[in-house]
Amino acid sequence: MSSPTDPHASADVAARVERRWAIAMVLLVSVLVAMVVYTGLHWAMMPPSRVETVDVTSLHMSGEFVEPNLGSAVESDGSVTVRLIAQEYSFTPQCLLVPAGVPITFRATSADVIHGFLITDTNLNSMVEPGYVSTFRTTFDRTGDHLMPCHEYCGPGHQGMWAHVKVIDKDSFMQMAAQAGNARRLSCVK
Ligand code: CUA
Repeated sequence: MSSPTDPHASADVAARVERRWAIAMVLLVSVLVAMVVYTGLHWAMMPPSRVETVDVTSLHMSGEFVEPNLGSAVESDGSVTVRLIAQEYSFTPQCLLVPAGVPITFRATSADVIHGFLITDTNLNSMVEPGYVSTFRTTFDRTGDHLMPCHEYCGPGHQGMWAHVKVIDKDSFMQMAAQAGNARRLSCVK
């Protein structure tokens, strides 16, 4: 018989408790790994697989994000690409115009610090980082207006940094795009 103060008995207890915890942790980690594999395969939820960079110092001078190229452009496949820049403390364009029922690709970058990109009533929510292009795809089901606040603290003017997103019907949008011609980008900036 071992007494409660027997050093061998307490070593046995400690070993038993440790083994139990080790088993619990292995099970927990297995469940988490299984969740990662399941969401990855079943919902295609994966970390971004490509990183696209852009030169912040020449953003306004040349390349994709020059001012005349910001806004909505109709692609040859009928989809729409919207390019925008975030900078302290506004988005350019201040009002994004997009059609409903058409695949939209947003391409955004920052001219200074990290900003947030969020369109209310949608699941679009991301960071916009200087030196990188953030790309998101979506299709708006119906027409309407959304707010697009910066939701990443970017400085003392952060709370005043937001834009509008106006979703209009496809026919009106395509008509406007045809009138504007290939070289001009659309927005709802007055
Ligand atoms: Cu930009 Cu907060």
